Amino acid sequence: MNVVCIGSGYVGSITAASFAKWGHRTTIVDVDQRKIDLINAGKSPIYEPGLDTLIAQLVKDGLGKLTATTSYSSVSEANVVIIAVGTPSLKDGTADLKYVKSAAASIGTNLNPNRFTVIVNKSTVPVGTTDMVASIIEDASELKADENFAVVSNPEFLREGYALEDVFGPDRIVVGSNHKRARRVMRQMYSELLKHAPKVKYVETDVKSAELIKYASNAFLAVKISYINEMARLCESLGANVLEIAKGMGLDSRIGDKFLQVSSGWSGSCFPKDTKELLATSRKYGCDLSIVEASVTSNERMHRYCVEKIQRQLKTLNGKTIGILGLTFKPNTDDARETQAQYVIRTLLRMDSKVNAHDPKGMEMFQMMNEGLAVQYCLQAEEIAKRADALILLTHWEEYRALDWTRIFHAMRTPYILDTRNFLDGNTLRAIGFHYEGIGV
Ligand code: UDX
Repeated sequence: MNVVCIGSGYVGSITAASFAKWGHRTTIVDVDQRKIDLINAGKSPIYEPGLDTLIAQLVKDGLGKLTATTSYSSVSEANVVIIAVGTPSLKDGTADLKYVKSAAASIGTNLNPNRFTVIVNKSTVPVGTTDMVASIIEDASELKADENFAVVSNPEFLREGYALEDVFGPDRIVVGSNHKRARRVMRQMYSELLKHAPKVKYVETDVKSAELIKYASNAFLAVKISYINEMARLCESLGANVLEIAKGMGLDSRIGDKFLQVSSGWSGSCFPKDTKELLATSRKYGCDLSIVEASVTSNERMHRYCVEKIQRQLKTLNGKTIGILGLTFKPNTDDARETQAQYVIRTLLRMDSKVNAHDPKGMEMFQMMNEGLAVQYCLQAEEIAKRADALILLTHWEEYRALDWTRIFHAMRTPYILDTRNFLDGNTLRAIGFHYEGIGV
């Protein structure tokens, strides 16, 4: 099939690469010439483990399976056009659909009246957007939805850092459409995956339910993490161990052991944005989602709790130097949008602390997103320890286990570590002389 993917961000580039890998002739369309050049040179436009290698294979095998361009002209030859553009939050929490709308209009002007095209909404978009996209395309093309083309919802569930694993072995594919022919085209598009991964559940449903499944799933996961983080705080008061609680709970197959890892709170490019949008929409329609609301409040409480732990330790924070390990919202990504670090660092700076920070991949993006923040960025992780009064590990990058902890110990003014992910080996660190604390243990 001819597949066109609009957008080469996290979802777009990974989605396009996977469809090309499954044998479809895939074209990525993006307005950013720099990204287009990177892809055509066989390089990934984003940092995601394995993606560079996959794109290099697809571009360089000479079969023309994956190409990239700034022009929408390939839409006229497409069987499927996937919309995978960004949907950032507006001030009121709702999703900004300007990129989706402009992609839809450009698709409309390039649609071929002599063939049936399926347009796929892959971006996370509020319920009703699929209908809105159909009407924008009708206006721009003067063609009829459900006759010349059909718009379907096909939300993406990949996690950054594990995206290839998720795309090539997902739990489920959700396709929202009541249009018979569109459903057939979608099955054909996924046929290679379904052949090789027979355990994948293929769910066909109506458009609005598909759109809401994505928000409902992300909000549920956010609630789950907020819940275990609250248990961690309770454990600290009661003297119980949250690692044991998570293990004991996770063994119940109704609960499951995933997403029960303690942290300084969830963050990133999806959960904050998606919970905000879900809450804004639910309020607009007069329906209170008090559990999701509580999860957001509880999450902010968790960010604050981590700063309070350091403050309890150091008593006053002004004039103290705090080293931060990890600026991305989780390991194996360079994505530093809306991360825990942003909250923690801003709070520390407000309290007149000095902040040294390191991240293996996310420093550049963090710096760009937080221009003017008085942070000392360190190229070597060990440098954050220089005359530091405390270290706080926010992101559990594997390489942090292997740091020269003895050197770090000697560089610090007071050797206190707060490990918000219960990730490092506390016994080894205590043996070196550190005052090591996790959360809820
Ligand atoms: C999420 C969803 O998992 C994915 O299905 C969807 O497509 C996009 O949003 P992502 O944002 O990439 O994916 O990250 P995820 O791995 O879900 O983690 C989100 C946040 O929760 C991170 O800050 C992570 O560190 C935190 N988290 C995750 C925890 O604190 N504890 C956990 O047990 C799991």
